[in-house]
Amino acid sequence: MVIPSILEQAHALAGRAVGEGGIAVDATVGNGHDTAFLAQAVGAGGAVVGFDVQEEALVETRHRLEREALSAPVRLVHAGHQTLARHLEEAERGRVGAIMFNLGYLPGGDHSVVTRPETTRQALDAGTEALRPGGVITVVAYTGHEGGDEEADAVEAWASALPQAQFRALSYRFPNWSNDPPRLFAVEKRDA
Ligand SMILES: C[S@@+](CC[C@H](N)C(=O)[O-])C[C@H]1O[C@@H](n2cnc3c(N)ncnc32)[C@H](O)[C@@H]1O
Repeated sequence: MVIPSILEQAHALAGRAVGEGGIAVDATVGNGHDTAFLAQAVGAGGAVVGFDVQEEALVETRHRLEREALSAPVRLVHAGHQTLARHLEEAERGRVGAIMFNLGYLPGGDHSVVTRPETTRQALDAGTEALRPGGVITVVAYTGHEGGDEEADAVEAWASALPQAQFRALSYRFPNWSNDPPRLFAVEKRDA
């Protein structure tokens, strides 16, 4: 297929924003697919910081990174992404190239543990501070679970309100997808 899927597009944008030696954040580690993608992108000279509120997600992701023999230093933080600013090292603040959010619940896990609009928004605000100029935040929002639509709308409202002089915001969606289409948002911090 020619048109990239939501996840392919998120990876393409994040991968373009963070290269070898860069700093990346996975705001919702889950089963670690995005963490592994980011670790591959930054390589041994870069760094990845990952957040999840569920320990099982972090354990599974550590196993994935070991299985895939990825050499990038990855710090997995057992805390909500709304604490992002607190968990970045001084040298990482304002230097993050890509931050990926994949909202909703852990596939195969406890469906009652979901991301929530208020904390997602706090994390997005912290994320814009953490980005370097040219850095990107990607947000994949699912709409099939309770609260998913509202959360996608909250992310869209957040992105729409960002000042155009400082950020470029993108919304990517499939208008003829009949059942609960996922949505992608991306925000790029402009050069100062
Ligand atoms: C859709 S899954 C992420 C999938 C993941 N990107 C992957 O590649 O497998 C969403 C994850 O967000 C986590 N989560 C829920 N609330 C969170 C919060 N406040 N901060 C960080 N992670 C959170 C859930 O525990 C779940 O693992």
